[in-house]
This record gives sequence, C-alpha cells and structure tokens, in this order.
Amino acid sequence: MSRMHPSTRWLRRHAAVTVLGLTLLALPPLVHAQDIPPLSERLQLCASCHAMDGNSVIPENPKISGMDAGYLERQMADFKSGVRKSPVMSGIIPLVDGKEFAALAGHFSAQKPGKGVAADPRLVAEGKAIFDEGIVGSAVPACSGCHNEDGSGTEKYPRVAGQHTAYVVQQMLNFKSGERANDSRALMRAVAKRMNEKEIRAVAEYVATLSGSE
Ligand code: HEC
Ligand code: HEC
Repeated sequence: MSRMHPSTRWLRRHAAVTVLGLTLLALPPLVHAQDIPPLSERLQLCASCHAMDGNSVIPENPKISGMDAGYLERQMADFKSGVRKSPVMSGIIPLVDGKEFAALAGHFSAQKPGKGVAADPRLVAEGKAIFDEGIVGSAVPACSGCHNEDGSGTEKYPRVAGQHTAYVVQQMLNFKSGERANDSRALMRAVAKRMNEKEIRAVAEYVATLSGSE
C-alpha cells in the first residue's frame, strides 16, 4: 500500500467538494418543479383534517367551508409568516407553496357549510344573549355587530356560524391571552379580553348552533 502524496489527497478532497457543490447547485430547480402538486392532490392533505368539503368533524379542527376566500388565504399567509401560530398548522404550512393559497382558499370558500350542534345545549340561551346584545356590565360588544346576526360574517369579519365549540373557545382564549394577534386593529383581542371563560364557553355553544343562512 503506497501512501498518497499530500497534493493528490488535497486534489481528491477538492474534487469531491466540487462534485458535491455541483450536485447541490443542480438540485433546487428540480425540487422546485415537483414542489407544487395539482390542487386535487394537495387537497388530500387538507382533507385529512378539515374534510374534503371543509366541514371538519373533529372539534379542534375548524370548519373552513363557505368562509370568505380572502380570509382563508390571509390565515394561510399568517401561518406561513408566523404571525399566527398553531402547534398543528405551523407544521403543515411549510409543506405548501404560497402560490397554492388562492386556489385552496377558493376551493374551501365555495363549499356548502354544514350545520353545527352545541356540545352543551344548556348554555345556548346565555350565549345567544351575549352574541346578540353583548355584555353591558363589562362593555363587551355584540358579536352580531361584526359577524352578522346569523354568524354568516362579512368580507371584513369571518363567518363563525356552525363552527365547532372547542375551536371557538380555543380561539377566543388565544385572542384573550394575545397568543393570536393577527386580528386587524386588535378588534377581537379587545372583545375577548373583557370576557371570562364561562361567557366564552356560552357564546361558543350558541355560535355552533347558528346556520348562517340569512
Ligand atoms: C393535521 C391536521 C391539519 C391539516 C393536515 C391541515 N390543517 Fe388547517 N388547521 C388545523 C388546525 C388544528 C387548525 C386550527 C389552528 C389554530 O389552533 O389556530 C387549522 C386552521 C386552518 C385555517 C384557519 C381557519 C380559520 O377559521 O381561521 C385554515 C385557513 C387552514 N387550516 C387551512 C388548511 C389547508 C388549506 C390545509 C391543506 C394544505 C390544511 N389546513 C391542513 C389542522 C390541520
Ligand atoms: C368589532 C368587530 C368584532 C366584534 C364585535 C367581534 N368580533 Fe370576532 N372577529 C373580528 C375580526 C376582525 C376577526 C378576524 C381576525 C382575523 O382577521 O384574523 C374575528 C374573528 C373571530 C373568531 C375567529 C374565527 C376563526 O375562524 O378563526 C371568532 C371565533 C370570533 N371572532 C368570535 C367572536 C365572538 C364570539 C364575538 C362576541 C363575543 C365577536 N367575535 C365579536 C371582529 C369582531
């Protein structure tokens, strides 16, 4: 076994680095071209949690059917940029290219929203009073003033009708603590901060029963 001359060893190492360098340079365009699957394929991923028609049956996963497309697209962008965080969606969204957001939002926005049910019907009456009239003592405004009387929402304010109680409670608590802070002009944070958990729970039960059809 003859020993390698130092300069030969240097050359070999250098060549290996060059080859690796070329390999790395050559890869990104290929990977990029395969990054964006057709919409139908991408929807399989979303459907595993939100259902194909956006009417998720799992209480922690929001229903996203029939919501304003602009709202859905912005939420995806906010998860992507980290402005809105979620233990689940923050892990999913890096897999999705920003160029896909509009088509995904368009798909779910066009789906027919399903009906919801209250998890605890005894709280619905109290929840309805809060939704329609607010809470005078603690200056909580009526939810209906922004989200519409039937919860169907507007271009500015998202649809909440028929949403899962567990999801609504979680979002209200996130707005209350400031963990979710992507609401324009801090409108929802101002509302949620003035509410206690019992009131939040009650209004969420009522929201779940709304059908959102005017
Ligand atoms: C592993 C389950 C899972 C998958 C897969 C998933 N989501 Fe989600 N999604 C969630 C959860 C949980 C939330 C609630 C996040 C939070 O707590 O703020 C959510 C929230 C959202 C929201 C915000 C809804 C709102 O009302 O503000 C949008 C929009 C969304 N997801 C779109 C998608 C799209 C599009 C896909 C497919 C590319 C997808 N999700 C895949 C679980 C999932
Ligand atoms: C002054 C207007 C205003 C009022 C009043 C208001 N909201 Fe909101 N709400 C908003 C805005 C704005 C957002 C959207 C935040 C965003 O764009 O990310 C929102 C978002 C929400 C969400 C999150 C929806 C989702 O899909 O993640 C829930 C749940 C909600 N509001 C419930 C309520 C309830 C319940 C009340 C009454 C106690 C209420 N809101 C009162 C403006 C309002």
